[in-house]
Amino acid sequence: MPQYFGQLHTSEQPWSILGAVQSIQQNQRRILFKCGDPCLAISVLAPNLIRVRMTPTGQFLPHRSWAVTQGDEEWPTVPFEVRETVDAVEIQTEQLRVLVNQNPCRIQCFDKSGQPFAQDTDQAMGWRTGATAGWKQIEADEHFYGFGEPTGLLDQLSKVRTNWTSDAIDFGILTDSMYHAIPFFMALRPGVGYGVFFNTTFWSRFDLGAEQPGVWRMETQASELDYYIIYGPEPAKILDTYTQLTGRMPMPPRWSLGYHQCRWSYESQDIIRKLASEFRQRQIPCDVIHFDIDYMNGYRIFTWSPKRFANPKELVDDLKQNGFKVVPISEPGVKYDPEADYQVFDEGLKNDYFIRKTNGQLFHGYVWPDKAVFPDFMRSEVRDWWGNLQKSLTDIGVAGIWNDMNEPALDDRPFGDPGNKITFPLDAPQGPADEKTNHAETHNLYGLMMAQASYQGMEKSRPGERAFFLSRAGYAGIQRWSAVWTGDNQSLWEHMEMSIPMLCNLGLSGVAFVGTDIGGFAGNATAELFARWMQLGMLYPFMRGHSALTTAQHEPWAFGDQVEKICREYIELRYQLLPYTYTLFWEATTTGAPILRPLLYHFPNDPKTFTIADQIMLGPSLLAAPIYRPGVEHRAVYLPEGRWYDWWSDEVFEGPIAILAHAPLERMPLYVRAGSIIPMAPVMQYVDERPLDALTLRIWRGTGQFTLYEDDGHTFEYKTGAFCTTTYQVRSEGQQIIVEIGSREGSFLPAGRETIVELVGIGEQRFVDRGTAQQLTFSI
Ligand code: GLC
Repeated sequence: MPQYFGQLHTSEQPWSILGAVQSIQQNQRRILFKCGDPCLAISVLAPNLIRVRMTPTGQFLPHRSWAVTQGDEEWPTVPFEVRETVDAVEIQTEQLRVLVNQNPCRIQCFDKSGQPFAQDTDQAMGWRTGATAGWKQIEADEHFYGFGEPTGLLDQLSKVRTNWTSDAIDFGILTDSMYHAIPFFMALRPGVGYGVFFNTTFWSRFDLGAEQPGVWRMETQASELDYYIIYGPEPAKILDTYTQLTGRMPMPPRWSLGYHQCRWSYESQDIIRKLASEFRQRQIPCDVIHFDIDYMNGYRIFTWSPKRFANPKELVDDLKQNGFKVVPISEPGVKYDPEADYQVFDEGLKNDYFIRKTNGQLFHGYVWPDKAVFPDFMRSEVRDWWGNLQKSLTDIGVAGIWNDMNEPALDDRPFGDPGNKITFPLDAPQGPADEKTNHAETHNLYGLMMAQASYQGMEKSRPGERAFFLSRAGYAGIQRWSAVWTGDNQSLWEHMEMSIPMLCNLGLSGVAFVGTDIGGFAGNATAELFARWMQLGMLYPFMRGHSALTTAQHEPWAFGDQVEKICREYIELRYQLLPYTYTLFWEATTTGAPILRPLLYHFPNDPKTFTIADQIMLGPSLLAAPIYRPGVEHRAVYLPEGRWYDWWSDEVFEGPIAILAHAPLERMPLYVRAGSIIPMAPVMQYVDERPLDALTLRIWRGTGQFTLYEDDGHTFEYKTGAFCTTTYQVRSEGQQIIVEIGSREGSFLPAGRETIVELVGIGEQRFVDRGTAQQLTFSI
């Protein structure tokens, strides 16, 4: 069992520091440096990836990672050279050089042109009771991104980021620990970029120059230091490798890209029926209705309220007929219910699935059902059990699961007072019999493991059918099992603004399917805030409107005609963009690329983009500059290098340029890169209303290409090749613009369709798309 460190604060003891190397051994891809008892091991996993481990005791623990899907030995053999000089050992791969100084033992990395990165400071690596740590230099002009869903602005330089999953209720710009703990970041400066994955599930922390300017520190309560260095230099390359390590998202069901509506709560089947018919009657596209906690009987998970939801199957069926999918909330806290005949509690107790304290007593906390006990999702039999319990929901016809409160959130009595938050005892035993550990090591994994249980359970109960999953908490790798939203935000302009860097940083942490509660969860949105948030929310990979109990209604029609019209227009635009965004999801499944991107993702050599936190890109083509203050109708917009077109007016700008955009309430400034090809669908009321039987390629002059991805949208057959791609290209030749339609590749056969090629500002041509290559010429 790993050493129990257990205190959630750092001690003041001085650090012991790794000393001189006394001997060196190489065993295939691993080089071991012995420094007395303490040891350092560097493993070369890929030309741009090394793993560094340091143990103060000389014993590397049999350590399995719950996040890393590709173990050290599973990486293909990689050529590298090791050279020993008088005072250093040099490890050279095709892409980087790692220099290990022998006295004292220090690591320095260099790219091929000799630019240093991830260099140890003199302190390098150390330990003290209950903690290990590493210190590295912050280079001039270096900026820090990722860290899951950090609050504040985009760049995390000078911040402290703690990795400890927390119910971050009432979070604000200064909040540190959030719902997700993703101990990964990327450090970028022009021309140089690297990522660090800190492979620890214990409490850990990054200090990005807060304590000591010019130095970043990683610290963990694990008894050894274990981290990966991933060389880029581009963010895309870093993410590609990082998601090879921690996994990528599967293709979501296509309908889950539609608009989702939620409220805590639509309290009865009648209210939900009314809600659904409002959407259809008002012709506001919507695909998913989320059921919040009040569908349950006394907040007992996997039950239905007999009064308010007397016939859930009929309700779900009727909604389905009308093009709606249902996603109910799910909670880890199982009502402690020995008196009643509550199967979930009884079974869990009988099979000993709930977490106990070291003295063997059941651990309980207080959540929605009051006194509750908590499954130990670290054990596969518990995950299987939970996954099977979900059958009670899938039998009724639900199409997804929304996992909430899985940090886990729990209180002492009374439940609901933010001052009463507690956590499991850190020494509470958890995990499988042959790998028992304690809550100190597994706390950060609770949400991830619950999400895994959900995913795998659904896979069993609905074989062959993709489902939608949403999780409030997670750890590195959560993208494999679930989409993510940023928890309980507020109906404030500042929260709308902050959603941009939060979602961008999530994307830069390998989590592409992300969103925030549109309109704000707590509090009442004004009509103006709601309209502006919908405009921005149209770009969120996961688009859901949500609001809390006792707040004003936040449906698209709740703010009068003008706002309703704006909501309709932007939701419609989202549906039109679906062929484009669905392709971006495919990219996320194959390369780990985010869907929503900060400008620096595409312009990493333009230092101006490093701090832009209020503009955003949807894929490579669209750049949005939302309005996030009341009464504002103008804003500054930075357009990086290249030619840009105004989406609405076709006005042309030559970047890099700062412009002043005019944005009356119905307009969110939106720009397209020259040479963009955006495949668009007709407006639909829900995604599966019709197949993609009409396609418009909107093309903006310039040179560019886009590869459209298509599959059936709801099965896993794409995994065995049932998808197709079509590459479109545009270029200019003298007074002509040539559009090349590539032949369709792959075995999936899309619906027969006519394709309209609209060369923006010039004209359009149509052809019947038979999947064969063709060339269209436009004269200017
Ligand atoms: C939590 C969730 C929120 C949900 C509420 C009631 O606060 O974050 O989305 O509506 O619980 O279930």
